[in-house]
Amino acid sequence: MQNTFMRLLRNFWLLVFRSLYYPLAPLYDKISHYGFLGQWAKWQLAVVPRLQGKRVLEVGCGTGSLLKVLLEREYKAYGLDASPAMLKQARKKLDRAGFKGRLVQGKVERLPFPDNSFETVVSTFPTGYIMSLESLTEIQRVLYPAGRLIIVDTAVLKPYSRASRFLISLYSRLGIWGGGKNSRQKAGAFYLPLAGAGLIRRDETVEDEFGEVHIIIAIKAW
Ligand SMILES: C[S@@+](CC[C@H](N)C(=O)[O-])C[C@H]1O[C@@H](n2cnc3c(N)ncnc32)[C@H](O)[C@@H]1O
Repeated sequence: MQNTFMRLLRNFWLLVFRSLYYPLAPLYDKISHYGFLGQWAKWQLAVVPRLQGKRVLEVGCGTGSLLKVLLEREYKAYGLDASPAMLKQARKKLDRAGFKGRLVQGKVERLPFPDNSFETVVSTFPTGYIMSLESLTEIQRVLYPAGRLIIVDTAVLKPYSRASRFLISLYSRLGIWGGGKNSRQKAGAFYLPLAGAGLIRRDETVEDEFGEVHIIIAIKAW
């Protein structure tokens, strides 16, 4: 009975999660903020000190929060996303900040940019696209030689408060990342066919009292 309930809850959560990129896109920022106790934006920012050069492409840019920060810091940045609903949110955010013409609708598997266009490509909290050789080969193509792909793939909350302990336990029961069975859970690392796409991988972890975020940096071989 309890298992059936958890399965239903998990399926419901997955449905909400997928809907977040389409009909529920206006709620995405609030859900990612409150669902991770304000850590989400900080985890996204882990890419900033790792950027190389000024020409940056953010793939799967969602509602454009990181892209706005990059533009404010004078990166020549572009954001690409497959979802018109997410891009609508991003456009509102960028328009308000005075940035125009920085968003492109498209799929990572077929990037509408010439070869060797960017010094860095970033992807935070990607969905399955980042595991496909097709996507990684496209990313490699648009990177300058020795350019880098920075992926913030997973993050976990730490049990620093009653709310974080509740969320950790909930996410753990639902089998989604963001919480662990115990306080020692680590942010994981996806297996990605980076070498097959001509990208050389290294892994980093950034940790503070509130959580832990895992980062993959993949350099284009030259
Ligand atoms: C989990 S959200 C992450 C959004 C944002 N990077 C963040 O950190 O909040 C994943 C995003 O990837 C986009 N996406 C999924 N598959 C894609 C694909 N094949 N090409 C481009 N964008 C894709 C979704 O529309 C969604 O906006």
